[in-house]
Amino acid sequence: MSRIFNFSAGPAMLPEEVLQQAASEMMDKDGSGMSVMEMSHRSKFYQKIIDEAEADLRKLLNIPENYKVLFLQGGATLAFAMIPMNFMVNGKIDVINTGVWTKKAIKDAKLYGEVRVVADGEPNGFKTIPDLDSIKFNKDADYVYMCDNNTIYGTKYPKYPNVGDLALINDMSSCFLSEPIDVSKFAMIYAGAQKNVGPAGVTICIIREDLLARTPRNPLPAYLDYRIHAENGSMYNTPPTYGIYICGLVFKWLLAHGGLEERKRVNEEKAKILYDYLDHSKIFKPYADKANRSLMNVTFRTLSEEMDAEFLEGAKKYRFTNLKGHRSVGGLRASIYNAMPIEGVKALVAYMKEFEEAHL
Ligand SMILES: Cc1ncc(COP(=O)(O)O)c(C=O)c1O
Repeated sequence: MSRIFNFSAGPAMLPEEVLQQAASEMMDKDGSGMSVMEMSHRSKFYQKIIDEAEADLRKLLNIPENYKVLFLQGGATLAFAMIPMNFMVNGKIDVINTGVWTKKAIKDAKLYGEVRVVADGEPNGFKTIPDLDSIKFNKDADYVYMCDNNTIYGTKYPKYPNVGDLALINDMSSCFLSEPIDVSKFAMIYAGAQKNVGPAGVTICIIREDLLARTPRNPLPAYLDYRIHAENGSMYNTPPTYGIYICGLVFKWLLAHGGLEERKRVNEEKAKILYDYLDHSKIFKPYADKANRSLMNVTFRTLSEEMDAEFLEGAKKYRFTNLKGHRSVGGLRASIYNAMPIEGVKALVAYMKEFEEAHL
């Protein structure tokens, strides 16, 4: 076995213990005589898996009773459309624009009504989260939409906006379960699983019941109606069974290793190692504004595109992969989600030092 440090923004590393458990259960899960992949989603074996996954997620995040937990498909991208389809009942929403992922959500929401960008990070290349205290939200907004951790630029909200009585919807795809959060601040949280939680193909949605009860302006096709998924315990159709099982194993791994408080501590420690180095380096420059830095995606660059390319080439020697920045901003990016061990971060910084010394 030869595992490497994979700094991918997603799909990303999973905890080794989880992969090993999945491997050990591949041929026979709990005496069922079959792999989870082969199980009917209507079987008692599978019902136990999805029930435990939901119960463990509720425990991890302390999810209040009046929220539904859904395991769906279609990625965060389908949610960009489903959210306005389901919840834009009066046809007006407020959005805080923090990059590519909110822009895509804005584009889809515009198909269903008026989108008011109430704060915009674009003028400074999305290096900062806009000033949250000066935002004036519109009282008639069906909801306020935000993206917590901006995977491409490496920014993260330093706190949450005060939206008063308005419903706040948060795309947490790239920071979900990286630290504790107060779920009750949000009407809906959602995340694609493939960064911190499991394989691609599962989208986790946590939706407050009063938001769910809003009647969409138009009847919706069944799969696109969140209420139908909620009424059917994520089993209206065949759910992404194996992906949910892996998410469930990751939830158990998180619970067994100190829960989200401990994850936050470790994630802060990992990110600090990289940022401290970046802040003092003569050739590596951090991209995101210091006050809005992500613990999950550390974005930086060297003195030139040629040097970035040389750095990536040299990384191969240590078998570090996926350190290239997103194509829309270029540069370099190290995604250090929950499953990236601290040794991976230390090894990366050791390589950066070696590279820097060779270029001074
Ligand atoms: C914050 C955020 N939102 C949305 C998406 C889109 O997710 P998906 O590809 O699962 O649709 C991504 C993908 O990287 C993301 O990082």
